[in-house]
Amino acid sequence: MKILGSGHYVPKNIVTNDDLSKIVDTNDEWISSRTGISTRYISSGEGVSDLASKAALLALEDANISASEIDMILVATMTPDSMLPNNASIIQKNIGAINATCFDINAACSGFLFALNTAHAYLSSGMCKTILIIGAETLSKIVDWTDRSSCVLFGDGAGAMVVTADDSKSFYSVSGSDGSKGHVLTGGSTLLKNMLVNKEETNILTDNYYMHMDGQEVFKFAVTKVPECINKVLEKASLTADDIDYYILHQANVRIISSVAKRLGVSPEKLPVNLNKYGNTSAATIPILFDELRKDGTLDNAKYIVFSGFGGGLTWGASLIEL
Ligand code: UT7
Repeated sequence: MKILGSGHYVPKNIVTNDDLSKIVDTNDEWISSRTGISTRYISSGEGVSDLASKAALLALEDANISASEIDMILVATMTPDSMLPNNASIIQKNIGAINATCFDINAACSGFLFALNTAHAYLSSGMCKTILIIGAETLSKIVDWTDRSSCVLFGDGAGAMVVTADDSKSFYSVSGSDGSKGHVLTGGSTLLKNMLVNKEETNILTDNYYMHMDGQEVFKFAVTKVPECINKVLEKASLTADDIDYYILHQANVRIISSVAKRLGVSPEKLPVNLNKYGNTSAATIPILFDELRKDGTLDNAKYIVFSGFGGGLTWGASLIEL
């Protein structure tokens, strides 16, 4: 698999830590020192498919291919505009990718990584030739804006990547899930509501619609699982941690990223960070960061990069790709 191009798009509204201190009991010092986040972009109306379509058009332009050459669109999101149609199909219509098969994938913050692995499987089987992968979220619609422990962390945005089949490039992946720990990060539930359910409930949104997170549990999980799966993927590829030019990690907390660098024994410069600007955009963090590094020239001389994601499910994984 070879990466042909990338793009990203975020809504125009910047929300600072000081802005949040006006709606919940928090302050810039706490948020910056505990998370590394200074600002995030929040949509005032654009949905996931709007953000994703703009990121997708930029990725097609970067890849120098037309929308009709795309034979699959995979959208990783846990905040779709609708269940029907799926968001990949809405994006297909928006960008005119008339020859694409379209579906969404939900693996929370690991979503983009799982979509990348899915794309690789379709390409290696010969079922597809060129795939558009998107990670896009409007987390602001499921964030509980009265919960200071979680609302300060998240942002909205979209990142896209165009990949094509190429036998000459190495690709290795490791991934996993642990449903027994799903309760540490939840949200988006809706009630079963039909003529057989004896409930006077009229609101289909349950208490569990808004995001709830046991931050410390997720933190502990991330700092152990991420280095573990990165080491496994390195072993599969017969490479060492030093052979990798950049580790593009899910952007949740700068302390998680520093801890992973330490555990891998590599310089923190190999683990770039942009969560100070965007916050945690879940499935969109990895493709947004990749696009920034590609466009600012950081990846110009890079040979191997590792993507690693982790989050709700619980889910995790690492994929090593040769550029
Ligand atoms: O994408 C994957 C999903 N998410 C993650 O990866 C997040 C992983 N977890 C984390 O990043 C961190 O656990 C958090 C940033 C969420 C929290 O940091 P922490 O160092 O684990 O803080 P804490 O939850 O232990 O809270 C420490 C204190 C508490 O006060 P007391 O009990 O010590 O008096 C909290 O009530 O900080 C308080 N606190 C806040 N204070 C000001 C919690 N949130 C805030 C806030 N502003 N926004």
